[in-house]
Amino acid sequence: MKIDVLLGLQWGDEGKGKIVDVLTPRYDIIARFQGGPNAGHTLEIGGDRHVLHTIPSGIFHSDKINIIGNGVIIDPYILSRELEKLQSKGADAKVNLRISKRSHLILPTHRILDAAYEQALGKGKIGSTLKGIGPCYTDKTARIGLRIGDMLAIDFQERYNNLKERHLRILSSYNFDVFSWKLDKMSFVEYEQHWFDSVEELKGYELIDSELYINKALAEGKRVLAEGAQGSLLDVDFGSYPFVTSSNTITAGVCSGLGVPPTAIGKVFGVFKAYCTRVGSGPFPTELLDDTGDKLRINGNEFGSTTGRPRRCGWLDLPALKYSIMLNGVTDLVMMKSDVMNDFEKVNICTAYEVEGKDIPDLTFETLSRPVKPMYTTFKGWETSLEGLANFGVLPDQLADYIRYIEKAVKLPIEILSVGPGRKQTIMR
Ligand code: GDP
Ligand code: IMO
Ligand code: MG
Repeated sequence: MKIDVLLGLQWGDEGKGKIVDVLTPRYDIIARFQGGPNAGHTLEIGGDRHVLHTIPSGIFHSDKINIIGNGVIIDPYILSRELEKLQSKGADAKVNLRISKRSHLILPTHRILDAAYEQALGKGKIGSTLKGIGPCYTDKTARIGLRIGDMLAIDFQERYNNLKERHLRILSSYNFDVFSWKLDKMSFVEYEQHWFDSVEELKGYELIDSELYINKALAEGKRVLAEGAQGSLLDVDFGSYPFVTSSNTITAGVCSGLGVPPTAIGKVFGVFKAYCTRVGSGPFPTELLDDTGDKLRINGNEFGSTTGRPRRCGWLDLPALKYSIMLNGVTDLVMMKSDVMNDFEKVNICTAYEVEGKDIPDLTFETLSRPVKPMYTTFKGWETSLEGLANFGVLPDQLADYIRYIEKAVKLPIEILSVGPGRKQTIMR
């Protein structure tokens, strides 16, 4: 079997969690391949809202295996709080969660380094979620990180101390006051104690060689879905660098983040909103700093699932969407949240960027590095509720026009349309 992939085509928060949950019945295994607790994937099940950070979004289907792959980085404390919440909702991850021994550990000092680096950047800060993502991936590539499998080694404490000391030396060079910095409202010392308790707890879960597990499953004909975090425009190579995350969020990341060969990639579900949002700093050509932007934020409840920060909102950006589809080899498009614009008289789509009097139809190094003027095509709004729509044949004409325009521009059909946060508010072609 091939491994299917589902990932975000914009700046994250496209609605990946919801669609993974909806598609999970078609699969045997759901596996996260990159990112860490910077992610916040929301599932609405029977009116109840769950936000997952490190755990794959198939976890509420008790008969499906959920894997945290080697490319994911894990904060034991945050993961353990997530597991606790799951338990209180009746899902027992002891049964259906597996964790790669090769996943790297986010130390308490990684989180503090994140804060120190951001503080030092001042106005140029990335707008990081402050979960220690950048510093942890930095240590991974510097070959000094600690991994889940290392928790079982007898010299784990010594290796932890060595890495922590190294971090403290860096922090003192930044004159950063570690011991008065709060982590989840706790002092460093208190947080560190909880962190170690959580390490002990995680030892009770199934820690595996996930690359062997997944390749064997594929060989046996099992169906596997790889779940992305963040979005393609936050990819460390192709996103709006340096305002990106520190991992490869695109399909290529599945190969390194789960240990599967490129020839094993099957379908690629590319998820995008009918408009755009972004949290944190960095370029956003179609951003609306006016009442329309505020309306998108309020109608769409665009506040971060991880940090609660208001999300920046703007119109759909086609050059960016085409770029992401190209990078990922998307086969199946999934459009989210068109219901958010139900009461809009007019809806815009950006079709090109104007730079120094010239129209540029593609996202390029230049269009992401300097101010550009988005060129828009305007559509009439559908101005009706999308509640209860059963199939693509009964869409309001204006929404059907909007969809056809996008499909023609990106040369791919939209296979799934989401018109609300609930499982049932999903229309399949
Ligand atoms: P993810 O990080 O890609 O999983 O997305 P988030 O969970 O961070 O943000 C998506 C938000 O939109 C969540 O609050 C979802 O419950 C909500 N949502 C998902 N799909 C839809 C939809 O089609 N319409 C509306 N109105 N909300 C949606
Ligand atoms: P999901 O999986 C939206 C953004 C941060 C910041 C930048 C770097 O829920 O879509 P980091 O903490 O990774 O160093 O932050 O990336 N960011 C996200 N934005 N959704 C996410 O995840 C994000 N994860 C990170 O806001 O701008
Ligand atoms: Mg999110």
